[in-house]
Amino acid sequence: MCGIVGYIGSKQASPFLVGGLRRLEYRGYDSAGIATINSPEGIRITRVAGRVDQLDQAVSRRPQVATTGIGHTRWATHGPATEENAHPHVGGHGVLALTHNGVIENYETLKQGLLALGYTFHSATDSEVIAHLMAECLKNISAAPNATTDSVDRYVEAVQQTLVQLRGTYGLAIVFRDRPDMIIAARLGSPLVIGVGRGEHFLASDTSPLVGFTERIVYLADHQLAVLRADSIQVIHRDEGKVRPNVQQLSSQTQEVDLGGFPHYMLKEIYEQPESIRNALRGRLDKDNGTAKFGGLNLTPQQLRSVRRLLLTGCGTSWHSAMVGEYIIEELARLPVEVEYASELRYRNPPLEHDTLIFGITQSGETADTLAALREMKRKGHHTLAICNVIGSSIAQEADGGIYLHAGPEIGVASTKAFTSQLTVLSLLALHFGRLRGLSFEAGQRIIARLEELPELIERTLECHDKVRTVAARFADATNFLYLGRNTNFPSALEGALKLKEISYIHAEGYPAAEMKHGPIALVDEHTPSVFIIPRGVVYDKVLSNLQEVKARGGPVIAIVDHHDPQVARLADEVISVPATEEFLQPIVTAIPMQLLAYEIATLRGCDVDKPRNLAKSVTVE
Ligand code: M6R
Repeated sequence: MCGIVGYIGSKQASPFLVGGLRRLEYRGYDSAGIATINSPEGIRITRVAGRVDQLDQAVSRRPQVATTGIGHTRWATHGPATEENAHPHVGGHGVLALTHNGVIENYETLKQGLLALGYTFHSATDSEVIAHLMAECLKNISAAPNATTDSVDRYVEAVQQTLVQLRGTYGLAIVFRDRPDMIIAARLGSPLVIGVGRGEHFLASDTSPLVGFTERIVYLADHQLAVLRADSIQVIHRDEGKVRPNVQQLSSQTQEVDLGGFPHYMLKEIYEQPESIRNALRGRLDKDNGTAKFGGLNLTPQQLRSVRRLLLTGCGTSWHSAMVGEYIIEELARLPVEVEYASELRYRNPPLEHDTLIFGITQSGETADTLAALREMKRKGHHTLAICNVIGSSIAQEADGGIYLHAGPEIGVASTKAFTSQLTVLSLLALHFGRLRGLSFEAGQRIIARLEELPELIERTLECHDKVRTVAARFADATNFLYLGRNTNFPSALEGALKLKEISYIHAEGYPAAEMKHGPIALVDEHTPSVFIIPRGVVYDKVLSNLQEVKARGGPVIAIVDHHDPQVARLADEVISVPATEEFLQPIVTAIPMQLLAYEIATLRGCDVDKPRNLAKSVTVE
């Protein structure tokens, strides 16, 4: 979703700003812009309704001397993706410019007040309201009889007066025409990180723009405001006043990400799965005790034993992981598990005992709904844990403990390696809880052996790519798909359908295979392919019957199998074979051909797989 960058120092600002925005492209956006302070001209705004490449060209057309500036990639919320709605927005006839991530809920009321004061609005955004409001506060403070003309405090005061009037979330970067030696940043619910350099400082909404520029960072916390100057940073908390900036080391996991010879990040990330799964397992298998171990749950074995229920929450793909987790944990640990969409959980008030442990599952660690749901659960006294990929993200910081995926940066908007890493971690968790409860040492050891085989199994699974290409070529023109499976393969079917629809824009629905006859079977005809996930297992024969029901109605069938079955081979139009594994690990293996199928179909249809339309990598608005 929207991205922010900022630079102040002795070098030209625009190369960092444009380069930084390029590194934030993966988050999803539809317009981009920068504001630089070019003396004596004042604030110069360059914005485009389009890609960072276009912004780069627009910036290059006019020489820049500015050494202070801010930039933004916008994902439209209030008003369409036009140049006028792109950030930065100017406040009060050019006294300041700002970029904003987040949503201001009371913007309409504030706007009415500003219109009455004579302010003119050029955009439909809630962010322009903040810019004018801040300009108004600055004007009033400056007009006070005892105002010191250039004092930094005057600007800080104007920002603070503005912030108390806002209801909603914000990550803000602000530059002032008359103070080119300063950027002010402020955060409530939308992440901001400062890069500490020598004689220069950087600002960004996540760490990716900072890589290669500095290894020292300061995460801004909610209700904090920072004054960045070339040679100093001052951090001020709304309630505590000045606080010492907590300088941390940039994680080595946040390496520079390139395509590594692959045409798209999504394909690269699909192929990284043997390694990302290996990293999820690393150091967590305790063979001596036939269990899994975690460093960051911040709960004693005694506390874990007294847990009576788990509640797993998340959004999108992470919610699908939670659903698979429910099956695995209940099976191995005999522990009741609830799964809730985070967006629903945050406004529900489910009756939960205090011995319910809450897990928020999230790749980015920034998903607004998941963050809000965890906060709500925490408020009610539950211990909250994050299963998260991005180190230092908001959810990772706010949860009481958690488990990192260590999958490395996931750039493609469609989640792939994070999904299989989440399933790996959930399997470890099931083993851990199982061994604290009824699971035998022998069963624990058998599960460990299967988990250890996983990376190699995924390498072998990737060999199905050629076959998947053929299948994709045959069905790329379809307009509807069904994905069907049972047991753990039901959430897999949901995930397969989500992958296809989000990157190829083909309508796809996932269903429990047996549920199909209660409605979706009406969709079956010779133009609607059904992807059946049908590995061996307790419900194999049942799913085979469902497959026959589809064939009997002329529906084309793509079967994902883990062994040769002449009956499936005869019935299905296409068969994709994957290696066999334990039933609870099948979703990890069968995810691969479905990811590849979505990828191949989307590329055949000419879709931008890494940046699908309308989507954002981390959804930081409600
Ligand atoms: O970062 P998160 O895991 O919290 O993100 C949740 C969803 O927004 C995300 O999984 C989304 O559904 C992906 N585009 C799926 O590929």
